[in-house]
Amino acid sequence: MSTILSIKGKSEIFVGRVNEGIDKFLRGERVVVITDANIDRLYHDIIGRYEHIIVGHGECSKNLVTAQSIYSQLLTMGADRSTTLLGIGGGIVTDITGYVASTFMRGLDFGFISTSLLGQVDASIGGKNGVNVADYKNMVGTFAQPRFVISDVDFLATLPIRELRAGMAEVVKVSIVGDAELFAFLEESISDECYRATDVMRRIVLDSARVKADIVDRDECEKGVRRVLNLGHTIGHAIEKCSRKLNHGEAVAIGLSQISHLSHRLGMLSREDMERIDTLLQRIGFSIELPVPMTDILREMRYDKKKSNNVLRVVLPERIGSCRIVEMQLSELEKYFIG
Ligand SMILES: NC(=O)c1ccc[n+]([C@@H]2O[C@H](COP(=O)([O-])OP(=O)(O)OC[C@H]3O[C@@H](n4cnc5c(N)ncnc54)[C@H](O)[C@@H]3O)[C@@H](O)[C@H]2O)c1
Repeated sequence: MSTILSIKGKSEIFVGRVNEGIDKFLRGERVVVITDANIDRLYHDIIGRYEHIIVGHGECSKNLVTAQSIYSQLLTMGADRSTTLLGIGGGIVTDITGYVASTFMRGLDFGFISTSLLGQVDASIGGKNGVNVADYKNMVGTFAQPRFVISDVDFLATLPIRELRAGMAEVVKVSIVGDAELFAFLEESISDECYRATDVMRRIVLDSARVKADIVDRDECEKGVRRVLNLGHTIGHAIEKCSRKLNHGEAVAIGLSQISHLSHRLGMLSREDMERIDTLLQRIGFSIELPVPMTDILREMRYDKKKSNNVLRVVLPERIGSCRIVEMQLSELEKYFIG
């Protein structure tokens, strides 16, 4: 069974079998696939159907050097504005593909086959594309919607457990932002075994994608409500950068816990909801302890790109399923965190 969600009538998110999705969205046009070596090794039966370009792994490959290399290879292949780019992989591959597609020859048609949990519930959806510059994540990018996103939970069978957990941090985030029932479902069903249960993962991917798609549909360019999707991320990014050992999801999990505690201290979130958030994160397998002193994290946050004039837009949960954006001086935040 497949389900399609739509964003502004221009981006369709298909949750179902990959081959059914390919038949639906690709109709004989010239396709160039962008992927990484892991995905090529595991899923060459799909990649090998198309001309393809392989990019490197990890955040250190999500940069303008990789984009430049893809532009050059596209030129060598004779790609033109009638070519469709198809990113097959996790969030790194889809972020780069979207960036290249929306800039090469001023914009090609593009779509994704999203293969990681983080990609299926978050990164592939919503049209934010970009690459890192120097030490700054997603510093250069575009808003451009993929024509389609295909998410097949069968891909998750080959995803390492650490990557599955990383995706789960974003699932917890969207459930706190906008789906209390999904949060309760996670409380009931989460275990290391649930990642292999197709029906459980399908519901998790679909419900998370629906929350994100609804929000993006209302605010495509992140001028207002879409900012709630940054819940836990301002602190999370700073933790990721300071610790250098944690992946994105592990850092976001700590960010979610910290921001829930802050919201409770400010009188906005009940103790019960704060404890439910910590308990769920720990049951998934996350540590919610700070890996480095808070003073280091706050120093890093000063450089966050969402900050202007020392004012941060902080997303605070007011209950599970609802958040509010509050403007806070960095000094105020420092007072709450380190007294
Ligand atoms: N554009 C957005 O709105 C948005 C939102 C959230 C995150 N992101 C970005 O997403 C990126 C992280 O994405 P990610 O966690 O998917 O990382 P990733 O793309 O690096 O994938 C994680 C690892 O898993 C491998 N992998 C992917 N699918 C697999 C599968 N089915 N089987 C086996 N291995 C597989 C990849 O090769 C990679 O080594 C970050 O750069 C982040 O900034 C973007």
